[in-house]
Amino acid sequence: MNILVIGSGAREHAIAWKLAQSPRVNKIYTAPGNAGTASIAENLPIEASDIQGLVQAAINYNADLTVVGPEAPLAAGIVDHFVIRGMQIFGPVRAAAQIESSKAFSKDFMQRHKIPAAFSKTFSDYNEACSYVELQRFPLVIKADGLSQGKGVMICANLNEAKNTLKYIMQDKAFGDAGNSIIVEEMLAGRELSAFSFADAHYASSIATACDYKRIYDGGFGPNTGGMGSYSPPEFYTPQMGQQIYDTIVKPVIKELHDEHRPYKGMLYSGLMLTDDGPKVLEFNARFGDPETQVILPRLNSDLLEIMLSVSNNRLQQLEIDWALEACVGVVMASGGYPGKYQTGYPISGLEEVDNDIMVFHSGTSMDDEGNVLTSGGRVLTVAATGATLGDAREKVYDNIKKIHFKDCYYRKDIALI
Ligand code: AMP
Ligand code: GLY
Repeated sequence: MNILVIGSGAREHAIAWKLAQSPRVNKIYTAPGNAGTASIAENLPIEASDIQGLVQAAINYNADLTVVGPEAPLAAGIVDHFVIRGMQIFGPVRAAAQIESSKAFSKDFMQRHKIPAAFSKTFSDYNEACSYVELQRFPLVIKADGLSQGKGVMICANLNEAKNTLKYIMQDKAFGDAGNSIIVEEMLAGRELSAFSFADAHYASSIATACDYKRIYDGGFGPNTGGMGSYSPPEFYTPQMGQQIYDTIVKPVIKELHDEHRPYKGMLYSGLMLTDDGPKVLEFNARFGDPETQVILPRLNSDLLEIMLSVSNNRLQQLEIDWALEACVGVVMASGGYPGKYQTGYPISGLEEVDNDIMVFHSGTSMDDEGNVLTSGGRVLTVAATGATLGDAREKVYDNIKKIHFKDCYYRKDIALI
């Protein structure tokens, strides 16, 4: 089979890497991909936002299956465009992807179906939102309704901050139309957990779990990023916890989306807070997580292509999905200055020096005419390793990361340091 993977991050490199292990895969295309995907796939110069271009590429290159990495094309309805033409694609249709693309929809949906989540109210009127926050206890959380590249969530310590945030999102339109509505939400305390299930409209697979690190500095300080590292499985995770998450969140979400005529097919990513009152939803994503995918897929013993085809054919329930017991740790190497201003175009050396069992998934990389790999983005590489324990995996990653060099490289030193 020929496969088209959409996206250009380390997540998509990991997806292509895992698919390449399937005996049924003939050729993989990545659009637009990066210098890492170029070593296992053919990069096509088509952006993830170019839906017509991607449909045409899938036709031209005889893609038997297309896999969508990032959220934006899902929110724009790329899956609907493929389905209408009878072409196979992994990801939810637009109406189901709203579970991620509209937090207002997602919150309403959870309230309608009593899915455990933080208490919240949605506003589209600035003055009403201001009057409401005046009566609240602090801290509280304010979120833009639409997609805002992970930047649309603000924790407000007091009324002043809350009012400034409302102005910033609703009046100054810091996130454009994504801020036409906002959600005011209670602040939840606990440990965060990302839970991943494949779903085929009727059935969801049992969850695989990971923790990610969003802040730029060690100890969880500094501004938020796209993610600086992750590990799987979390040391505090128990099968009982998994069962509770499955029964109270994952299973009802898939059932109720189906019953609301928004059949969900693809990967369901539940962002959870483990509170004293049990697991509660912070958000859903309609896709694989980044950087979680880079530590989940190395633990997947089953054939990813077979899973994706079962999702497509609504036969997921018949499939046994096998996750290795071993641990996996992934550390992101970033350009110095990220998530603020940073330089690109620096040569990356030492990529061939890493041990054979180390996975180096590329994100912000490109290749020059001489075949040199250069930095081209904020997050540059995810270096991942598996091990019998988290400690083993962690040690392998940090031993090998030292062998890779580029100017102004930055990475956190505390990933999976428990
Ligand atoms: P979200 O995009 O909704 O997952 O929010 C991004 C991050 O903000 C989460 O990973 C949490 O760290 C934090 N966050 C979001 N909602 C809440 C909440 N209700 N209480 C505490 N932290 C939250
Ligand atoms: N790990 C955060 C995300 O993928 O949205």
